Amino acid sequence: MNCTLSPSILAADFANLAEDIKRAEQAGIDCFHFDVMDGSFVPNISFGAPVIKALRSRSHAFFDVHMMVEEPGRYIEDMKNAGADSITVHQEACRHLDRTIHQIREAGLKAGVALNPATPVSTLDCILPMVDLVLIMSVNPGFGGQKLIPYTLDKIRTLRRESEEAGMDLTIGIDGGVNLQNLTSVLDAGADFIIAGSAVFQPNNKIEENVNAMRKLMGGRE
Ligand code: DX5
Ligand code: ZN
Repeated sequence: MNCTLSPSILAADFANLAEDIKRAEQAGIDCFHFDVMDGSFVPNISFGAPVIKALRSRSHAFFDVHMMVEEPGRYIEDMKNAGADSITVHQEACRHLDRTIHQIREAGLKAGVALNPATPVSTLDCILPMVDLVLIMSVNPGFGGQKLIPYTLDKIRTLRRESEEAGMDLTIGIDGGVNLQNLTSVLDAGADFIIAGSAVFQPNNKIEENVNAMRKLMGGRE
């Protein structure tokens, strides 16, 4: 299994984003997670396309954009032009999820669907063959630094089993509260795309050490 660590820049130093990204890249990171929040779908506002665009000029890494936004189909072109490589939308935020997923694919980007903790995996049965990534939210979205909700790991197990039974090569992401203490359980559950904000950027700002420690636990699965 090919396992990727995608640090969420929500937990980075907003006054030094380019520097924090550079430090993570020097520790071997080649993918970053951008949490776009609209203050409506989630009770918080973060940043939008201009910030992603500014960082695009500083990095060749894969930019994974997580849209915590109502009707994100409105912003696909903006995100593409800003330099997104993948766009993940919430099942709960799209009235016409099939259309939105097709819009992302037609824009030439990887398409992901995120599920809030209380949304069952079965809601994706019809759309699963059309997505590259399912992002299982392990916290209620809106804020970094929350605790992982344990039952969300059962959703990852279910999805991994079902996608394997269907012969699908699905990327399963986990987002929220992942840290050095729970990373092994998360990997064992079947996640292969690991989002981590606070665990990478916060403890003592030791970005390189934090990345190395997490990648060590992922060793052999990367
Ligand atoms: C939550 C975001 C997550 C979060 C991850 O709304 O989607 O990406 O910032 O941060 P940590 O790892 O601090 O939970
Ligand atoms: Zn996220």
